Amino acid sequence: MVSEYSGKWAWITGASSGIGRELALQLARRRANLILSSRNREKLLALQQDAGLAEEQCLVVPLDMSDSAAVVRTAKEVLERVPRVDYLFNNAGISQRSLIRETKEDVDRMIMEVNYFGAITLTKAVLPRMIEQGGGHVVVTSSVVGKFGFPMRSAYAASKHALHGFFGTLMVEEKEHGIRVTILVPGHIVTDVSYNAITGNGERYGKMDPGQARGMTVEKAVKKMLRGVAKGKREVVVGKADSWSVYLRKYFPGLFFRLAGKVSPV
Ligand SMILES: NC(=O)c1ccc[n+]([C@@H]2O[C@H](COP(=O)([O-])OP(=O)(O)OC[C@H]3O[C@@H](n4cnc5c(N)ncnc54)[C@H](OP(=O)(O)O)[C@@H]3O)[C@@H](O)[C@H]2O)c1
Repeated sequence: MVSEYSGKWAWITGASSGIGRELALQLARRRANLILSSRNREKLLALQQDAGLAEEQCLVVPLDMSDSAAVVRTAKEVLERVPRVDYLFNNAGISQRSLIRETKEDVDRMIMEVNYFGAITLTKAVLPRMIEQGGGHVVVTSSVVGKFGFPMRSAYAASKHALHGFFGTLMVEEKEHGIRVTILVPGHIVTDVSYNAITGNGERYGKMDPGQARGMTVEKAVKKMLRGVAKGKREVVVGKADSWSVYLRKYFPGLFFRLAGKVSPV
């Protein structure tokens, strides 16, 4: 399928699973060249095969987003190997299932490292190349809880709020250098995100939440995301009815807080 993504180079973090994996599959169908990152090399190699990407169309780049030095080093190596980076999808992330009073500080910090510092470190490493090549598009996966606080998501919501501050600034600062920014704001999308979430002492939560299971399919969500990115939208809110909470919080805060206390956080 020929599209605005055809022949472009897109770097996707968190490509081994869920939204990132689906971004890779749909971008490959649109003839993009891909740089695939996550910690799991085997899953990325399997994805390269499933997406039907030849060696010259794809780099598999294992990367732990919580390791800043590795992010900087890896970005330098990647930029030596690809002609350009047209899209950077900062998508890797880890969720949380624990009350504030049950959450160890190490867990708060770890979530910030992966979801916030990982994304900004990689973006800062790639940005000079994007400016040098005449422009580029930075995309970041936030969440509806990047717009409001929600029970059992304290550090997760904080990390996603921080992304809005950073990438909202980038949107304005580098517009004149051809840098476009899109913040993706998903509600519940059916992926393994709740299985992979961590509890207050850092253990894997390991369950599919009922609310999560009723979410939008990842195929549909990613289609909407890529349409929004192609249109150059600053924000793309995606999801079923739960995504309306963004507008409820903004325009009817009293009602939002009455309902938020009644909605199950799992
Ligand atoms: N699904 C939803 O309902 C939903 C809603 C709002 C926002 N989001 C956001 O969407 C993004 C993708 O989540 P998902 O739903 O696709 O969940 P997922 O299936 O759990 O995927 C998470 C991805 O992040 C990667 N990752 C986690 N920790 C990492 C680390 N330290 N270094 C590098 N990569 C790491 C994982 O790869 P490895 O384990 O292989 O490293 C995996 O590829 C996240 O930012 C999440 O917060 C999801």
